[in-house]
Amino acid sequence: MWALRYLSAVIFLLAPFPIVNGGDCGDKFLNKCSCGMGEYIDRMQYIVNCTNTGFRDTNMLQDLPKQTEVLIWTGNYVPELPWNVFGTLNTLDNLTIIDMSNNHIHEIRGKSYHHVPNVKRLILNHNNLSISRDDEDVNHHHPRVFSNFVNLMELHLTNAFSDNSSAQLSEDLHDIFVNSNLTKLTKLHLEQNEIRMFKDRRVFCDLPSLRDLHLGDNLLKEINFNILCLNHLRFLDLERNKFTQMKLKDLNVLDILANSQGHETELIVDLTYNQLACDCTINNMQDWLKKTKVKIRNLDNLFCYKQGRPYQPMLSVKYDKCQVQRRNADSSKGHTVTIVFLSVVLLTIILTLVITAIYINRNRIKKIVNPVMTNVSRKVHYTTIKDDDAPEQYV
Ligand SMILES: *[C@@H]1O[C@H](CO)[C@@H](O)[C@H](O)[C@H]1NC(C)=O
Ligand SMILES: *[C@@H]1O[C@H](CO)[C@@H](O)[C@H](O)[C@H]1NC(C)=O
Ligand SMILES: *[C@@H]1O[C@H](CO)[C@@H](O)[C@H](O)[C@H]1NC(C)=O
Ligand SMILES: *[C@@H]1O[C@H](CO)[C@@H](O)[C@H](O)[C@H]1NC(C)=O
Ligand SMILES: *[C@@H]1O[C@H](CO)[C@@H](O)[C@H](O)[C@H]1NC(C)=O
Repeated sequence: MWALRYLSAVIFLLAPFPIVNGGDCGDKFLNKCSCGMGEYIDRMQYIVNCTNTGFRDTNMLQDLPKQTEVLIWTGNYVPELPWNVFGTLNTLDNLTIIDMSNNHIHEIRGKSYHHVPNVKRLILNHNNLSISRDDEDVNHHHPRVFSNFVNLMELHLTNAFSDNSSAQLSEDLHDIFVNSNLTKLTKLHLEQNEIRMFKDRRVFCDLPSLRDLHLGDNLLKEINFNILCLNHLRFLDLERNKFTQMKLKDLNVLDILANSQGHETELIVDLTYNQLACDCTINNMQDWLKKTKVKIRNLDNLFCYKQGRPYQPMLSVKYDKCQVQRRNADSSKGHTVTIVFLSVVLLTIILTLVITAIYINRNRIKKIVNPVMTNVSRKVHYTTIKDDDAPEQYV
């Protein structure tokens, strides 16, 4: 009796908590999420917040409240996103932001996202996506994967891919960009994806509205992708990559873009924490900085590096050492000259020896060669006659 009363008291005390924690999301959310108005990006919005909820399927997302504006669904385990994650009946007209980071997502099917006409920001950071055509025996390539996001403006794919094959990644990405028709996309985040190079140089060329391209924390050594097709580009983030110098061609291409007609906005490039070498190549960049329209972000904090450590601020380095390099170049030219000279001398000596030998043995050689020579001269004679005859027939 006493125990029962105690128990009911406990239940009475605990009962309100699930409600406070957002029990209003509905049964399927297992009281793990909170639903309600909250501040998100400086605005009160209806937020469904499932942070670190450890779900192993997406079933509850079919019952998202219709008024949902922001969906945060992170820290779950769903290697494969099924078709119609949000159900077939629900049209979430007010949904503008989806954050599905950190869910171990390996595959997103072409038909996973439906009824998301007004989503402007899609965040898929820290997943394990495979989008390749020929991955083992499974085809993970669904080129229309984002095609229902007709109003998408921001796509966040930081540390999103499992693929190591970054060169292939660029082809697959390009295909997705083409087929998903992301005409309004202005921001693309691709940081931390171990990208060494883009095999498909036109990878971003089908994103006509792209303004901010974030490629920080990758392994790029040069700008080996087409940026001239990005007429609205205003920010190119290349922080913490593997640039050891800015090649002249890269500096040129940045200038061409910044100066091109129709490119109205200022072009800003971030190169911080690249290990730009403290050597003559700095001079190219310094010269370029004096005349370019392009703005280098954090220029005051841009250092050149020696032995993997920041050595001197880029702007204050003076490199006269280039003279030394030039002198090295000269001396290597010197070596070549010496080698050619010695070869000539050697050849002359050998020739002299051969000629001398022939001269000394001229009588013996004559005996051997003479019969042959007579033969040859006879032949020459006949041929000459024949040749002389020939033209006459045509005259
Ligand atoms: C979502 O919930 C997590 C923890 O439950 C909290 O840290 C985070 O601030 C919430 N986000 C928003 C936008 O309310
Ligand atoms: C969507 O937002 C509009 C404007 O805030 C509101 O009038 C409408 O009721 C919302 N739709 C739903 C399904 O809640
Ligand atoms: C990523 O996907 C691959 C292939 O399915 C799997 O072997 C690997 O364990 C996954 N990694 C993580 C962190 O989920
Ligand atoms: C990715 O490449 C690195 C080195 O290039 C290697 O150590 C790592 O095992 C690779 N990871 C996968 C998942 O293939
Ligand atoms: C792409 O979207 C634009 C408008 O956003 C539309 O006019 C065009 O027809 C679409 N193209 C394809 C192939 O779906």
